[in-house]
Amino acid sequence: MHFTDSTAIEREYTQCDSATESLVNGDGEFLREVLEGLSRPHRAIPCRFLYDAAGSAIFDSICQLPEYYPTRTERQILEINADAIAASISGDLRFIELGAGSGGKAEILLDAMDKARAYVCIDISPVPLASAAAAVRARYPGLAVSAVCGNYLGQLDLPPRRALRDVCFFPGSTIGNFERDDARGFLREWRNRLGPDGMMLIGVDLKKNAAVLEAAYDDAQGITAAFSLNLLHRANRELGANFNTDAFRHCARYVSNPGHVEISLVSQTEQVVAIAGRTFQFAKGEAIHVENSHKYAINEFAALAGKAGFESVDVWTDDDALFSVHLLCVAH
Ligand code: AVJ
Repeated sequence: MHFTDSTAIEREYTQCDSATESLVNGDGEFLREVLEGLSRPHRAIPCRFLYDAAGSAIFDSICQLPEYYPTRTERQILEINADAIAASISGDLRFIELGAGSGGKAEILLDAMDKARAYVCIDISPVPLASAAAAVRARYPGLAVSAVCGNYLGQLDLPPRRALRDVCFFPGSTIGNFERDDARGFLREWRNRLGPDGMMLIGVDLKKNAAVLEAAYDDAQGITAAFSLNLLHRANRELGANFNTDAFRHCARYVSNPGHVEISLVSQTEQVVAIAGRTFQFAKGEAIHVENSHKYAINEFAALAGKAGFESVDVWTDDDALFSVHLLCVAH
């Protein structure tokens, strides 16, 4: 793993190492996962493949949709409570952001925190990583900025901490893409990585009325449908598959227990799809599962974090109780 440190090296961003490169570009991984996922009795393709260049662009449009409240609600929570959040975090700190391209959410907090000495951004894609790091570097000349090109879900070496309190910022309710057990495992790993005085500031989408949730994941303009269907377009583009994308319909359904929106592509007819010399027979109504987006009540998430070795410090929400931002500290 490589990283830059503005105090030592003035490079815009690091090269990805070969392990990271293969995570981004595949090594035939997409083909393997598609073939394997379509061979199961309950067909599924992992949601990380939604984010190729086309998918990432569609996701940016999702964040602007009237029905998709999480992005703007989280931003509003951070803006309104930035001073309170900053006041809850004492001492000189290193701010670690998981994922680039939160659209300035880190800056809302960095503006309010006069104790931030270092900023680390971690992302698997080098280009958004570089622009996130460059933007922070330009805005905060005194801050030591590092860019780590890697998978924050897996093995990762952070730059040395040098007596700073680690505060890990994980916005966007990205944790919702984990199954609940995996979310706990992910928090546990970061808990162990952060050091004894570490903290975690994490955006978590709240449980709510099913109609609101289902509209957020199946908008009137069909942008979210296009986001899911891009997975099939991508298979056609990259794997030479012959999905008839008009014959699959995006479907978003809220499952209240344990609490997740389940997104799938449902075959509208009986059909056969060919991929890399294999064929897959679809019955009418048969689904390919593409994504779960888990939702948590406030206490439920605090309890999950507790099982991962964190203690709840504070939590902020909006007036409509759509979204939450939890501040956790490492428990002893
Ligand atoms: C990026 C996982 C936070 O679950 O709300 C949005 C992904 N999928 N619309 C979410 C998503 C369809 C999003 N996360």
